[in-house]
Amino acid sequence: MTVRAVIKGVGHYLPERVVPNSEFEATLDTSDEWIRTRSGIERRHFAAEGETTSQLGAHAARAALKDAGLEADDIDMIIVATSTPDLTFPSVGTMIQKELGMTKGFAFDVQAVCAGFVYALSNANAQIVSGQAKRVLVIGAETFSRIMDWTDRSTCVLFGDGAGALVLEAQEGTGTSDDRGILSVDLNSDGNYRDMLYVDGGVSSTGDSGKLRMQGNALFRQAVSKLASTAETAMDKAGITAADIDWVVPHQANIRIIEGTAKKLGLPMDKIVVTVQDHGNTSAASIPLAMSVGKARGQIKQGDICVAEAIGGGLAWGAVVLRW
Ligand code: ACO
Repeated sequence: MTVRAVIKGVGHYLPERVVPNSEFEATLDTSDEWIRTRSGIERRHFAAEGETTSQLGAHAARAALKDAGLEADDIDMIIVATSTPDLTFPSVGTMIQKELGMTKGFAFDVQAVCAGFVYALSNANAQIVSGQAKRVLVIGAETFSRIMDWTDRSTCVLFGDGAGALVLEAQEGTGTSDDRGILSVDLNSDGNYRDMLYVDGGVSSTGDSGKLRMQGNALFRQAVSKLASTAETAMDKAGITAADIDWVVPHQANIRIIEGTAKKLGLPMDKIVVTVQDHGNTSAASIPLAMSVGKARGQIKQGDICVAEAIGGGLAWGAVVLRW
């Protein structure tokens, strides 16, 4: 018997405040036109003062539970992908566990920056397949606005805040790619790329939370080739080809990276879920946010083969193939 981690529900939450590109024109030497043409971003949401990552994540979790028709106590495990936790500890996962009123199970965080949701999905899948958990909430939640250097036009216009969540449930499968659920995972990292994307502060170095630093152009070149190759490896592992894919749900960093990766995979843009124009780069939240929006738009339907792929600081990158 093959155990599969099957998607039972999806949901998301975006903070109320929407910031159009034009708002940056007042304080930075930039323009709506530059941001749109170089990144595809038109607007992003920023958390209100005092609004935390765990609050965004809890809203998304409630939406996913509602979509699944489940209660918090039906869940055995919460895993949160985030690089912007409320506090150094405890985990955002345990904060959301309390917020949801969960009285059992276990919760923790994973940190793989923009690849975090793919890493979290992989971990949730492993826990389900090994029998450690039956129902898992996988959440990506971020408040990247808190680690922006507002004087650095090359980074602060690109990121946004938000959260998305999936409920996964153990179900019996046949072991073929006809099964619903997670079919394969491919994870990679290479710490030699540390300086390409990092935050210049932390607990054991500066004692403060620091600001994001990025070599955007160098990272851009790494992104397209690494995203295409991890997606291809995950497809091989699942025993499918690009022709079998209904939807790619990419990390939403830059429309040019999304288009370049689609081209390398030989896929038309009408098979790609794109939300970067409305959300900016929400790091670990971007894939579950795009999945939730993609389902609400009527793009992703039950039975569809989806490939999620992401790259972020580390560098860390990876892909997941699943049948919705
Ligand atoms: N407005 C106007 N001009 C700008 C701005 C801005 N907001 N930002 C940079 N510029 C200027 C630069 O200073 C540079 O000027 P110069 O030629 O006089 O030096 C010029 O625009 C071109 O800069 P590039 O960095 O070469 O621009 P590029 O086309 O590479 O686009 C971008 C920059 C959007 C950052 C792109 O490189 C990118 O998306 N990189 C990848 C980001 C990414 O994938 N991140 C994913 C991981 S994120 C995570 O893990 C947290």
